[in-house]
Amino acid sequence: MFRRIRSYCLLGIKAIPVSVEVDASQGLPGFTLVGLPDNAVRESRERVVSAIRTVGKVVTGFRTTVNLSPADLRKEGSALDLPLAIGLLTATEEISVPRLDECVFVGELSLDGLLKGVRGILSIAMDLARDKNSILVIPRENEQEASLVEGLRYICADSLKECIEILEQDNEGPVHCACGLERRKFVSGLDVPDFKDVVGMEGVKRALEVAAAGGHNFLLIGSPGAGKTLCARCLLGILPEMCDEEVLETTRIHSCARSPGNTELFRPVLVRPFRTPHHSASMVALVGGGARLLPGEASLAHNGVLFLDELPEFNRCVLEALREPMEEGKISVSRASGTVVWPARFMMGAAMNPCPCGYSMDPKRVCTCLPDARKRYQEKVSGPLLDRIDIQVCVPPVEPSQFACKTAAEPSATIRSRVCAAREVQRERFAGLPFRCNADMSSEAARRFSYMDGATEKFAVASAEKMNLSARGYYRLLKVSRTIADLRYSESVEIPDLAEALRYRAFRG
Ligand SMILES: Nc1ncnc2c1ncn2[C@@H]1O[C@H](COP(=O)(O)OP(=O)(O)OP(=O)(O)O)[C@@H](O)[C@H]1O
Ligand SMILES: [Mg+2]
Ligand SMILES: [Zn+2]
Repeated sequence: MFRRIRSYCLLGIKAIPVSVEVDASQGLPGFTLVGLPDNAVRESRERVVSAIRTVGKVVTGFRTTVNLSPADLRKEGSALDLPLAIGLLTATEEISVPRLDECVFVGELSLDGLLKGVRGILSIAMDLARDKNSILVIPRENEQEASLVEGLRYICADSLKECIEILEQDNEGPVHCACGLERRKFVSGLDVPDFKDVVGMEGVKRALEVAAAGGHNFLLIGSPGAGKTLCARCLLGILPEMCDEEVLETTRIHSCARSPGNTELFRPVLVRPFRTPHHSASMVALVGGGARLLPGEASLAHNGVLFLDELPEFNRCVLEALREPMEEGKISVSRASGTVVWPARFMMGAAMNPCPCGYSMDPKRVCTCLPDARKRYQEKVSGPLLDRIDIQVCVPPVEPSQFACKTAAEPSATIRSRVCAAREVQRERFAGLPFRCNADMSSEAARRFSYMDGATEKFAVASAEKMNLSARGYYRLLKVSRTIADLRYSESVEIPDLAEALRYRAFRG
């Protein structure tokens, strides 16, 4: 008999419907699989036949042809095991499934018939939820992820045996309806250092507060041991909680990025990601791609922070590849079979020393580098990249006397409440617009929403001229000023806001 089973394949973050067509007829026993399968799919027959044996059925002894359609899409991974098993069982009439046409199957099978979770279920669930009649059949491991999509109808099972028992029933009983993301509390036990334990450094804390409030990129420059890495790690504690939409976007990417063989239960990403790739990271590791078209660190940092510690140590071409996502909020990876687009809207953070010895900005130490070496070091970070970093601050060494000071610094929670208030102002301003925070604004929006009076605008233009700002630099200046004004609940951007924003562009070799 001929059966068509509905399933899905992943192409980047996109879930693409595929069908597994099985034709089992009398004749010389044999098995043919066509339709661009990769090795994992090709090997699925062995897993599937053995899993089917565990439920006491036999599907060999037929002349079986399996076609994966659309035929021109490369099918990867083991998620097609379950649809293939159901296809073989129904085509050979070993089982009958009353609602086969409504069901969409995804899942890997082990030799002993257990169903194992696969990556990218959230993408699949989001695509399928638009069709109210369909039922997604998945391994129980994937249930938590699928249930994030409100209104999705699904069935989950631990094994092929359980799955068949459910499918052979003709009632709505085992079909769950996903209730969507539950409102949850901010994770209080967040494992990040608190600003209250950072001595001094008021200027740096303020700069990071502005960066967090507007989602701006930042760069910390200073002597070794000044506390750059420490301050950047505190950042997560002052960022606002992700909204439901952001949780789904980020979780979706992380789900697609799961490495095979990862048996840990996949959980939704509720806390903003803070990704810290090592400076030896390759291009593929950072922006994604490779043979399996997996997302890179930049996409995994979507809605969170991508922190590049020791910025000049990164390979220059790797850094240049970040220019596109920093501007567009997405990364396109091209391959012979087509282009995959990954979302990558992140706050970029970076830290560096000003020179190879590290002390050229230190008032108390002498820099031992030759001017040439210093220049070469700084040139490792290209101009276009620096131009995209709105907030550049020098981190001065802490005076030892400050360590003896007993008055406690402001805790992260207090800073965070100011950041959240400023974000709320932005949310109201951008209602109906495609921006989430000031850093997302287009140039046109940056000008429109700054509400400067004549004198302030004149000041802005004059400063831009004096500092030789590029057109991009000018608009970025307006965006940071907008954030500083938002932090004090001011409708209009004024000269002190611009002056502070200008101070954050001070780094020049
Ligand atoms: N202001 C500070 N308050 C409290 N502790 C600090 C402060 N600055 C630095 N430290 C301590 O010094 C350690 C080193 O700081 P950190 O690693 O952030 O330095 P860094 O600026 O990143 O140096 P490098 O340039 O070598 O990477 C921190 O782990 C922290 O314990
Ligand atoms: Mg460091
Ligand atoms: Zn030096």
